[in-house]
Amino acid sequence: MHSQPGSMTLARTYEVRRDDGFVASDDPGRLDLDVVHGYLARSYWSAGIPRETVERAVRNSLVFGLYSPEGQVGYARVVTDRASFAYLCDVFVLESWQGRGLGKWMLEALLAHPDLQGLRRFLLATRDAHSLYAQYGFQPLGAPARFMERHDPNVYQSQAVR
Ligand SMILES: CC(C)(COP(=O)(O)OP(=O)(O)OC[C@H]1O[C@@H](n2cnc3c(N)ncnc32)[C@H](O)[C@@H]1OP(=O)(O)O)[C@@H](O)C(=O)NCCC(=O)NCCS
Repeated sequence: MHSQPGSMTLARTYEVRRDDGFVASDDPGRLDLDVVHGYLARSYWSAGIPRETVERAVRNSLVFGLYSPEGQVGYARVVTDRASFAYLCDVFVLESWQGRGLGKWMLEALLAHPDLQGLRRFLLATRDAHSLYAQYGFQPLGAPARFMERHDPNVYQSQAVR
C-alpha cells in the first residue's frame, strides 16, 4: 500500500510469477484464510492461535501468499513500517509441497518487495531453519544483550478457554 498526503490511497499488488504457474503475491484479499489459520493453528510457534487473531494480524501486516495453480500452498508475514524495520514471521509451505524449492522462492520474492528495501534491521526468530535464512544474509544477533522481549508462549491457550 502506498499513499501520499492529500491523494487517494492506492493499493498496489506486488506479484512474482513463475513459468510453471506458481505465484507469490502480497494481496491480502487473495489469501485462503482456512489454509493460513489451519497451518498456523498446528504450527510449533502458534499452536491453537484463534482465527480472529490470524485475521487481525493479516490486516495489519505485509502478507505473502504462495499459490500453486490449484490454490494457496505457502505463507509468510512481515510486521513492518515499510521504511526502517521489519520482522519476518509465520513462514510456512504446506507439508506436501515442502522440499522442492518453493520456500526459498517465496522468500526471495518477499525479500525483493519494494517496501522492504533499505531497512536498517530485519529480524526473525526460528527454532531450526537458521541455515535457510543464512542464505539470505540473516545472522545470529550481533548483540543479543541489547534485545529484550516480553514473551507469553501460552497466550493462545489462555485465549481459547476464555
Ligand atoms: C521452512 C520451510 C518454509 C522451507 O520451505 P521448503 O519449500 O520446504 O524449503 P526449500 O525446498 O525451499 O528449501 C529450504 C532450504 O533451507 C534448508 N533448511 C534449513 N533448515 C530448514 C528447516 N527447518 N526446514 C526446511 N528447510 C530447511 C533446506 O535444507 C534447504 O536448503 P538448500 O538450499 O540446501 O536446498 C518449510 O519447510 C516449512 O514450512 N517448514 C515447517 C514450518 C517451519 O519450520 N517454518 C519456518 C519457521 S522459522
